Amino acid sequence: MRGVTTGEEKMAPKETTINPNKALWEKGDFTEIAAFMRQSGELVIDSLGINPPLRALDLGCGDGTTAVPLARLGADVVGIDIARNLVEAGNRRAALGGLSRLKFEEGDACNLEGVADDSFDLVLSMFGAMFAPKPMDVAREMVRVTKPGGRIVMGNWIPNDPTFVSQLLNISSTFTPPPPEGFVSPMTWGVESHIVERFGQAGVPKENISMARDTYYFAHPEKSPAEFIELFEAYYGPTMNAVDAAQKNGMADQLHGQLVELAKAQNKNGDAGTFIPATFMRVTVQL
Ligand SMILES: C[S@@+](CC[C@H](N)C(=O)[O-])C[C@H]1O[C@@H](n2cnc3c(N)ncnc32)[C@H](O)[C@@H]1O
Repeated sequence: MRGVTTGEEKMAPKETTINPNKALWEKGDFTEIAAFMRQSGELVIDSLGINPPLRALDLGCGDGTTAVPLARLGADVVGIDIARNLVEAGNRRAALGGLSRLKFEEGDACNLEGVADDSFDLVLSMFGAMFAPKPMDVAREMVRVTKPGGRIVMGNWIPNDPTFVSQLLNISSTFTPPPPEGFVSPMTWGVESHIVERFGQAGVPKENISMARDTYYFAHPEKSPAEFIELFEAYYGPTMNAVDAAQKNGMADQLHGQLVELAKAQNKNGDAGTFIPATFMRVTVQL
């Protein structure tokens, strides 16, 4: 898929101290989108059959869509995310909820330096680690920090799927300049052969990896699909980049029109609010 960015491709030669992947996610404010994801995040946690005591890592955790309900069940949870603003927002949510067993830290899924081997019973990443630019390193790090007998669960968007997120990213990519050669699209994390290859090089046999399509819901009782799209345009790094590129070409209205049309067509709630399903690949790795 063309311009679905990790940020890696924006690396300018002089700006070697800037991490472009981090800059991409700190550019916006993902909490505005996450507000539509709370219900589904809780359902994902319910589906895991968690039985504390348990140490869990939520990788690419954002402000805690899944980390907060996981901690509410009594798990000890560390959330790691590359975006400082989201780590701060997560720690505010933990404090407000009185969740002393939940901590958010800044870190990179490609290199979890400072995290000891075999630390966690559960490593969870819902649409988080897939956006890190070095997928082989990400798989190796997730395996390294999981205890023997522990489990890794990933939720990954699927390339060219007809449902909302894949189509939103597809539309955005048609308005964004193509990435450089050698760029690995985050969406490849939704493809079975890549998933098996990545965990395989980290030492996990194919039999220990299960992959199944599942559905996530973006829901809000009052905000319309058009308002939902406006939030993507204003706060979601990859869509913000598409808007910037479209504005330069005088195409911003076309981009906006296509995105609103998509959200309206996929909304199951009429115009009263938003309830948009999206198919994802649920990956479970047993160590
Ligand atoms: C689509 S959001 C999902 C956030 C959260 N998991 C949720 O369900 O609300 C993707 C998240 O991955 C984080 N992320 C992107 N690249 C990362 C990396 N290399 N290491 C850690 N987190 C990363 C972003 O900052 C962002 O919070």
